Amino acid sequence: MINKPREHTKSIAIYPGSFDPIHNGHVDIIMRGARLFDRIIVAILVNLEKAPLFTVGERVEIARAVFKTLPNVEVDTFDGLLVDYVERRHAQVIVRGLRAVSDFEFEFQMALMNQRLNSNIETVFMMPAEKYTYISSRLIKEVFALGGRVHGLVPDLVEQRLRQKV
Ligand SMILES: Nc1ncnc2c1ncn2[C@@H]1O[C@H](COP(=O)(O)OP(=O)(O)OP(=O)(O)O)[C@@H](O)[C@H]1O
Ligand SMILES: [Mg+2]
Repeated sequence: MINKPREHTKSIAIYPGSFDPIHNGHVDIIMRGARLFDRIIVAILVNLEKAPLFTVGERVEIARAVFKTLPNVEVDTFDGLLVDYVERRHAQVIVRGLRAVSDFEFEFQMALMNQRLNSNIETVFMMPAEKYTYISSRLIKEVFALGGRVHGLVPDLVEQRLRQKV
C-alpha cells in the first residue's frame, strides 16, 4: 500500500554516522541536505565497541561549531536502532552519502533492512562533490597520524583538534 503524500509537515532528515572526525565529505553532504530538507539532524552514533579518537562529546561540540551559522542543521547523538531514533525525532528521511561503488553493497543492505523495519522511512543517497569522494574519517586519521597534510579535507577546527590529539 502506498500512503498518501504527507501535507503540512516539515521535512526532517537524519544523517547518521560516527563522524570521528567530521570531514569535508560529510560537510558537503550536510550542506546539500540543508538545502533539500527543512531540517537535517547530524546524528552521531554512540558506539561503545569502537575505540574512537574523539569522544562523542568532542564530536558533538566540533560539529556544532562547524554548522553554527546554519540554523537548520542540528547535531545530536543516538544509540539503538536507527529507525526508532528517526521516529522519535519525527523525521521521515535517512540521508546517506555514497562515495564509490564500494559503499553501495553495504548501504543497499542497510536501506532495505531499514525499509523492512519501518516502511514509512525513506533512505536518500547523496553524492558529494567529486573532490571529496575519496575521503573517509579512517583515512584522515591515518594520514594525519603519519604526519601527512589533511588541510582542505577537513574543517579548520578539525585540523586544530587533530593537532592537539596527536
Ligand atoms: N567522502 C564522503 N563523501 C560522501 N559521503 C561520505 C563521505 N565519507 C563518508 N560519507 C558518508 O557519511 C556517512 C557517515 O559515515 P561515517 O561516519 O562512517 O564516515 P566515514 O568517513 O566513512 O568514517 P569511517 O572511516 O570511520 O567509516 C555515511 O553515509 C557515509 O557513506
Ligand atoms: Mg564509514
